[in-house]
Amino acid sequence: MKLSISIICSLGITTVLAQHNLSWTPPGPDDVRGPCPMLNTLANHGILPHSGYNISQEITIKALSSAVNFTSNLAEFLFAFALTTNPEQNATVFNLHQLGTHDILEHDASLSRSDKFFNTSDAFNKDVFAETTSYWPGDVIDLQKAATSRHARALTSVGKNPSFTFSELARGFAHGEVAALPLVFGDRVAGTAPKDLVVSFFENERLPVDLGWKTPALAIGNLDLCEMTQRVINASGATLEQAQEILPCIDFDA
Ligand code: HEM
Ligand SMILES: *[C@@H]1O[C@H](CO)[C@@H](O)[C@H](O)[C@H]1NC(C)=O
Ligand SMILES: *[C@@H]1O[C@H](CO)[C@@H](O)[C@H](O)[C@H]1NC(C)=O
Ligand SMILES: *[C@@H]1O[C@H](CO)[C@@H](O)[C@H](O)[C@H]1NC(C)=O
Ligand SMILES: *[C@@H]1O[C@H](CO)[C@@H](O)[C@H](O)[C@H]1NC(C)=O
Ligand SMILES: *[C@@H]1O[C@H](CO)[C@@H](O)[C@H](O)[C@H]1NC(C)=O
Ligand SMILES: *[C@@H]1O[C@H](CO)[C@@H](O)[C@H](O)[C@H]1NC(C)=O
Ligand SMILES: [Mg+2]
Repeated sequence: MKLSISIICSLGITTVLAQHNLSWTPPGPDDVRGPCPMLNTLANHGILPHSGYNISQEITIKALSSAVNFTSNLAEFLFAFALTTNPEQNATVFNLHQLGTHDILEHDASLSRSDKFFNTSDAFNKDVFAETTSYWPGDVIDLQKAATSRHARALTSVGKNPSFTFSELARGFAHGEVAALPLVFGDRVAGTAPKDLVVSFFENERLPVDLGWKTPALAIGNLDLCEMTQRVINASGATLEQAQEILPCIDFDA
């Protein structure tokens, strides 16, 4: 019974997405947002709680599945990381602002956020994003352009931010965030994404259905994200063999 209710619920959201009739409301004064443009987006659509608070594992799994077709294993994996940002003991929920606690998951040299040393990472920063998009010439972002922008942002931060840090976890996350773009917005075989969709998503924190975006027709699992991340590391100058050594992939869905 519980299972069939959740199937009906997720089908309902899928239908809304397919009809390109998503509601969208910007955050109000009591709502929180954070450093992840996608989770902010899903909250703006009410696919995650619009308040940005009290995000449980079940809510995360349903939201990521219905909106971007992440497998429940991948959603659970990311949720477990998210929980580490809630300072309460034995927490079962997180909020979007907690994700921005510096140097847990949130890191310097983001594509669309200022370093925490200078300002909040909860809000889009147009100057930072202008630097990122300057490395995205043309209509298509490929892995090379994505990796180049990622690297350039790190060099800029190193030069400007006296407290710059980039841990191993940050490095892995930063490459994984880049890898999510072709998987969610573009072509997972080519490793490309249409620039207009990606730019609209970052700037508006809104799913770009008006530009023709649809929920990926193929599910995205741990292995997909990990292998795309290896390709980003490879495009950053490592050989594929080195990338596989740095980030070994395990198929949690197998
Ligand atoms: C429960 C799931 C998720 C968690 C816990 C999470 C967490 C985070 C965190 C903490 C950051 C900030 C890192 C930084 O300092 O830049 C971030 C950034 C990012 N996330 Fe998420 N995220 C999740 C799901 C997703 C999904 C589904 C996408 C799909 C597109 C996504 C795309 C991104 C991108 C592109 C960035 C980089 C933003 C930038 O560099 O400005 N995330 N995420
Ligand atoms: C779109 O969604 C709104 C709000 O839920 C609803 O009132 C409207 O009837 C929907 N339109 C279509 C064409 O489904
Ligand atoms: C959400 O979390 C806050 C803070 O922990 C709590 O006060 C509030 O009652 C929760 N709201 C819901 C709807 O669970
Ligand atoms: C957290 O969980 C542990 C193990 O179940 C328990 O011993 C501890 O009292 C809990 N702490 C709080 C603050 O609930
Ligand atoms: C810091 O971020 C806030 C919120 O986005 C913005 O209004 C403000 O202009 C920023 N300040 C600086 C110095 O960049
Ligand atoms: C998610 O992917 C599966 C196949 O991997 C597909 O059957 C399903 O329709 C997709 N979900 C959505 C919402 O498009
Ligand atoms: C990425 O991997 C491919 C295949 O192993 C290799 O030909 C290419 O040189 C690698 N890229 C870099 C920058 O090393
Ligand atoms: Mg950051």
